[in-house]
Amino acid sequence: MKLNIAVLPGDGIGPEIVEQALNATKAICTKYGHELHYEHALVGACAIDETGNPYPDSTHELCMRSDAVLFGAIGSPKYDNNPASTVRPEQGLLAMRKKLGLYANIRPVTTFPSLIHKSPLRADLVAGADFMCIRELTGGLYFGRPQGRSEDGNVAYDTCVYSREEIERIVRLAYTYAQKRKKKVSVVDKANILATSRLWRQVAQEIAKEYPDVETEYMFVDNAAMRIIQWPTSFDVLVTENMFGDILTDEASVITGSLGMLPSASIGIHTSVFEPIHGSYPQAAGKNIANPLATILSAALMFEYAFGLMEEGKLIRDAVAASMDAGVVTEDIAQGGKAYSTSEVGKWITEYIVKK
Ligand code: IPM
Ligand code: MN
Repeated sequence: MKLNIAVLPGDGIGPEIVEQALNATKAICTKYGHELHYEHALVGACAIDETGNPYPDSTHELCMRSDAVLFGAIGSPKYDNNPASTVRPEQGLLAMRKKLGLYANIRPVTTFPSLIHKSPLRADLVAGADFMCIRELTGGLYFGRPQGRSEDGNVAYDTCVYSREEIERIVRLAYTYAQKRKKKVSVVDKANILATSRLWRQVAQEIAKEYPDVETEYMFVDNAAMRIIQWPTSFDVLVTENMFGDILTDEASVITGSLGMLPSASIGIHTSVFEPIHGSYPQAAGKNIANPLATILSAALMFEYAFGLMEEGKLIRDAVAASMDAGVVTEDIAQGGKAYSTSEVGKWITEYIVKK
């Protein structure tokens, strides 16, 4: 198969971790006889520095003509610590999501037996947790307008907007995944307070009727936040709006032991994007210590979701599991013993793929 991939490393640790995911991707393509074409482009703070735009048109055009986008991370303290700056790296990510129509962000949460000791939760609570968060990605507070400040600067406002159509497409997606999994959907909202949440719940109730084989539960977001740490194994597919999904998936990711382990796939109208859920971790940038596994696992999702190449995706996943079993891991998940560098972990995984 021909694979055209746009590689967007972004900021901070992005370039180091994406390099390892790209190496794993190359090894898979060689092994299975796929023809890989890839091209790098700028996004985030590095794109602002170079072009003034966090998502330059040339980057968007590359994404549009590619079959998949492998993405690192964006963000820089230079902008985080300056709330007055009008152009921000995060705008690049939001522009990319909007322009590519990436309305669904899929974040699978799975536990790795060799990592359970790192979880902040008791092992008996986390063992076997395996659920999928589906976060709406192009609506809600992130994109609602008006957004801004009063003239005197002392009042600020954001707007949360959702249309029936936006809710329908993502809730339907949740049901189609649940049908292939454990047949349960948790619809998470704040319908006791928010008008948008009441529309979510109404639309979800209508759609639920079309999937009688799937169990549906409705849950307020505060309750869901609690349940994720109290009883994570009770979830199968959790679907929610943009901001709730942002918060809940960071929470969900650490129960597995490290934020550095969670991949994601953003899918929608145009090219899909595959990226780790963690940020750009600027303190570690250039130090070769960041955990590349979430990005390598994102490459696994890329093979599966963008190309339907399930065996290829599984081999990457197996390689990641094997590296953890062998203790070839970065400092964030190392247990007492030796911690390996980003590139050592990547190299071990690539060699595993080649040898298998
Ligand atoms: C994420 C990130 C982004 C978000 C930031 C970097 C804009 O936290 O992908 O979860 O809030 O969506
Ligand atoms: Mn986030």
